Amino acid sequence: MKFQPFKLERYFARYEFSAKYLLCSSDCDGLAVSDLLSLADEETRKMWQELKVGYTESLGLPLLRQEIIKLYQGINQDDVLVAAPEEGIFIAMNVLLNKGDHIICTFPGYQSLYEIAHSLGCEVTKWVLDEEKDWGVNLTFIEKNIKKNTKLIIINFPHNPTGSLINKKDFQKIAQIAKAHDLYLFSDEMYRFLELNPDHRLPSAYEVYDKAISLFGMSKTFGMAGVRIGWLVTKDKKIFEEMKVFKDYTTICSSAPSEILSLIALRARDVIIAHHLERIKNNLNLLEIFFEKHQNLFSWVRPKAGTIGFPQLKGKINSLTFCRELVERTGIMLLPSTVYDFDDKHFRIGFGRENMPEVLKIFEKYIVNNG
Ligand SMILES: Cc1ncc(COP(=O)(O)O)c(C=O)c1O
Repeated sequence: MKFQPFKLERYFARYEFSAKYLLCSSDCDGLAVSDLLSLADEETRKMWQELKVGYTESLGLPLLRQEIIKLYQGINQDDVLVAAPEEGIFIAMNVLLNKGDHIICTFPGYQSLYEIAHSLGCEVTKWVLDEEKDWGVNLTFIEKNIKKNTKLIIINFPHNPTGSLINKKDFQKIAQIAKAHDLYLFSDEMYRFLELNPDHRLPSAYEVYDKAISLFGMSKTFGMAGVRIGWLVTKDKKIFEEMKVFKDYTTICSSAPSEILSLIALRARDVIIAHHLERIKNNLNLLEIFFEKHQNLFSWVRPKAGTIGFPQLKGKINSLTFCRELVERTGIMLLPSTVYDFDDKHFRIGFGRENMPEVLKIFEKYIVNNG
């Protein structure tokens, strides 16, 4: 199987560790191990101290899987497969899809959600979110585009890159459409629990539909991307078995230290998530003021969840040029919409980081001086 380059990751590879300021990160600030360990209970502290870094259980550490199921309703530990998030997408797509199948995937989006299908020889229909409707979904579009060979619908809410969160009715309707046509539903829920209003939190697709596969992990909501721990959950036993077997060809098992650090964080989830949400809310308020003040230059849809938004440039300048000039002149990294193959007018901005207010000031000075 041959892949197209992952444009977003290639852009990050170029600037992430050389740019002075990151203003487009999709994760919350990385947690320090010392802070994390201070949250450990007696059992997990002992596990950490006595840890032997050998192979681990392929499905994931049983205690970790037990903690994961507490995030869902009606879940059974046997439905959880631990894998790095990106690995989870790779495994699921390989198991679910064959050459000639058709998928419908929300767009713009995280490239692997549709690119792996494309590389497998599948037909891909991009389901473009509607910016005019707060980056919402047009449900008649999927109904119209389901074909004989459609196998899978792929969604991602809270959404990368727009911060969109559809309403519960639309979410249920997507699950109903999938059910009515006997399709699988892959739901990337990587930004779950970062809803600004907790009442708007969607159920996990796993909870509402038997042929759904949901993805979540430690990277974004917990600020622990470096542990490379995530998981797939599904009630579909056949798919679960096939995914389990596929993992033998990716990582075989997950990292032992990472599993314990993830267990510690999941047990302390209320404290960690509340801390991140507070920062996100403060940062978003600053962005609100910023975009209000500079509406001659930008328009934006205020995100409802997650750590990122997708403003639009109003002037003549295209986004790739804008982002390149910005990073070269100020050291601030933004992400042009070209890496999403979307258009050349939007950029991704991130608000999960502690230093966002400081970086925003430098950004503001730059745009004021460069008009
Ligand atoms: C929507 C979405 N899904 C999956 C991933 C992959 O997560 P990870 O980088 O932790 O493997 C990302 C990362 O940016 C993402 O934004």
